[in-house]
Amino acid sequence: MDNKVVKFGIIGCGVAANFHVRAINNFEDAELYGVYDKNEVNAKRIAQEQGVKLFSSIEEMLQDENIDAVTICTPSGLHAQQALMAIKAKKHVLIEKPLATTEEDSLKVVKEAEKCGVTVDVVAQLRLSKSVRRIKRALNEGRLGKLTLVELQMVYFRSDEYYKVAPWRGTFEMDGGGAMMNQGIHGMDLLLYLFGPAEKTFGFAETMARNIETEDTAAAVIKFKSGAICTVTATTSVYPGSPRILRICGTKGTVVLTEDSITEWSVEGESMDRYLSESSYTSFNKPEAIPESAHNTVVRDFLDSVKEGKKPVSEAADGFNAVSLIKSIYKASQTGQSVKPVFIKK
Ligand SMILES: NC(=O)c1ccc[n+]([C@@H]2O[C@H](COP(=O)([O-])OP(=O)(O)OC[C@H]3O[C@@H](n4cnc5c(N)ncnc54)[C@H](O)[C@@H]3O)[C@@H](O)[C@H]2O)c1
Repeated sequence: MDNKVVKFGIIGCGVAANFHVRAINNFEDAELYGVYDKNEVNAKRIAQEQGVKLFSSIEEMLQDENIDAVTICTPSGLHAQQALMAIKAKKHVLIEKPLATTEEDSLKVVKEAEKCGVTVDVVAQLRLSKSVRRIKRALNEGRLGKLTLVELQMVYFRSDEYYKVAPWRGTFEMDGGGAMMNQGIHGMDLLLYLFGPAEKTFGFAETMARNIETEDTAAAVIKFKSGAICTVTATTSVYPGSPRILRICGTKGTVVLTEDSITEWSVEGESMDRYLSESSYTSFNKPEAIPESAHNTVVRDFLDSVKEGKKPVSEAADGFNAVSLIKSIYKASQTGQSVKPVFIKK
């Protein structure tokens, strides 16, 4: 498939679909072929703007031999069922985060992906950011010494209107969770990517300020198998909200990632401003303002995986692990006990 243009269908034409359209249009070896949305008005908007085919059902899209790959941008509770349909139809699949809203459904996708031999990629744009790649290299090389403490702060503001315009948000069935699952999964996935599997979690997840079913406020402690202790805070209910902060502390260094920019690099024997980067931090309170570069890197990795048969940076198993970590914190909150999350080894 090396020289081939990969033709995409998009399922679900809301906010996230716009990122996918932009990213697909960014690459010469990718082409948007058609779209489908249960709400025809939403699908027509993209079909007309882009001059692409308007499908009348998912089945019709999946039967079309012109389509090589689909991206799933529907409410999270539909991801697993639609991904399974696409995998069975032998289409490559790029699934918006989270992979699914339950561990059971996530596992079904992992198993089907193993069987069918197509690329299954879960969006985890932070993994591909330049800053994260630099931090990961420093950690792999042991430059921060023994990792002891990690702090992840995801303190955001989402208005009542944000939940009102898309009533699936903030429900367990369609969103899978609240501040930690919908908004926080980027940071939670990053923890697993950088520090490996968690041994135990403990936490609180509560609905305090928004009229939603899932948590708008949560705090957790995670003990990683590698030894480090991590605190996590996640909320969508505080004004005015602030950029996500990940502080990584070891015996030889501290690094701070603010959104996806390195804002502190204090490592023994290394220049302080080595990797410092500028950022305008526009998207922490406004998902529609997520920078173009984010999904470009995801779609590039997906295209390379499809064409070269390599594994994407964020596979279905990674999607499962992120859901499992978050669900373990919900379980800890419900039971008042610490929980050992289940992880798929890679
Ligand atoms: N990676 C990121 O940074 C990022 C950012 C925003 C959203 N997301 C994810 O993208 C997904 C969609 O979120 P959104 O904010 O775009 O939601 P949205 O409500 O704006 O859009 C969802 C679209 O799916 C359509 N839809 C609903 N049921 C459908 C069905 N059965 N078949 C086909 N289409 C259907 C709706 O009509 C709507 O157009 C979520 O899983 C969310 O977590 C990811």
